[in-house]
Amino acid sequence: MTRRPLIAGNWKMHGDCAWTQGYLEQLLPRVEANGPEVVVCPPFTALAAAAVIVVGSPVALGAQNCHWEEKGAFTGEVSAAMLAELGASWVIVGHSERRQYFGETDETAVRRAAAAQRARLGAILCVGETLAQRQAGETLKVLEQQTRELGLLDPAHLAIAYEPVWAIGTGHTATPAQAQEAHAFLRKRAREHFGEDAAQRLRILYGGSVKPDNAAELLAEEDVDGALVGGASLDVEGFSAIIRAAAGRMSSAR
Ligand code: PGA
Repeated sequence: MTRRPLIAGNWKMHGDCAWTQGYLEQLLPRVEANGPEVVVCPPFTALAAAAVIVVGSPVALGAQNCHWEEKGAFTGEVSAAMLAELGASWVIVGHSERRQYFGETDETAVRRAAAAQRARLGAILCVGETLAQRQAGETLKVLEQQTRELGLLDPAHLAIAYEPVWAIGTGHTATPAQAQEAHAFLRKRAREHFGEDAAQRLRILYGGSVKPDNAAELLAEEDVDGALVGGASLDVEGFSAIIRAAAGRMSSAR
């Protein structure tokens, strides 16, 4: 099974409209239509500006969160349909920063993913253990818990991002072997919920201090099908190098 790699840039709370425009004008010529799937996830406020530039290009737009209801009295929230209207085709849900600072839980993350799929968006569902959990030998137990409700989702419009919390923004990347162990476990969980075929098609991304100089070795692992890139995605050159590393995986397709 060869899965088309997916490289997503999570800009977090970075990028006003002018910066977004300049960034995308530099990125677009570097992205090939038949290469890895490329998604950029700017803040909500830059999505409309980004959409005007990426329309008709191979670069897709994603958002960083959505609410689970279509509309209602939820001050400060944005629905998946609103994101779709702006031209987004993906949304990140359950990111560890949402879990840490904004009370996101396993349950709400899956509800958001389901809402995204109802609005015909792909969901990038983030999971991953903290340092204390890894040190206690609980990594797989945590991933099992975080994927308990996976069966509520449509595997055809889903990617799972394995993001060990201790690797996010710290410069401490998981080793390729650590990533592969977690990814293989997540594929097993997908198999339990969705069956063999859908599990084989599902893309499982690694996230946590992915950089141009470590992307190739992570992407060389059997079950690492792409990357969710934070800090390094803010630099067009660096993000392009990570996309090239994923393209290299395609050309050496197993
Ligand atoms: P990082 O962030 O690449 O800056 O570690 C990854 C993420 O939070 O998605």
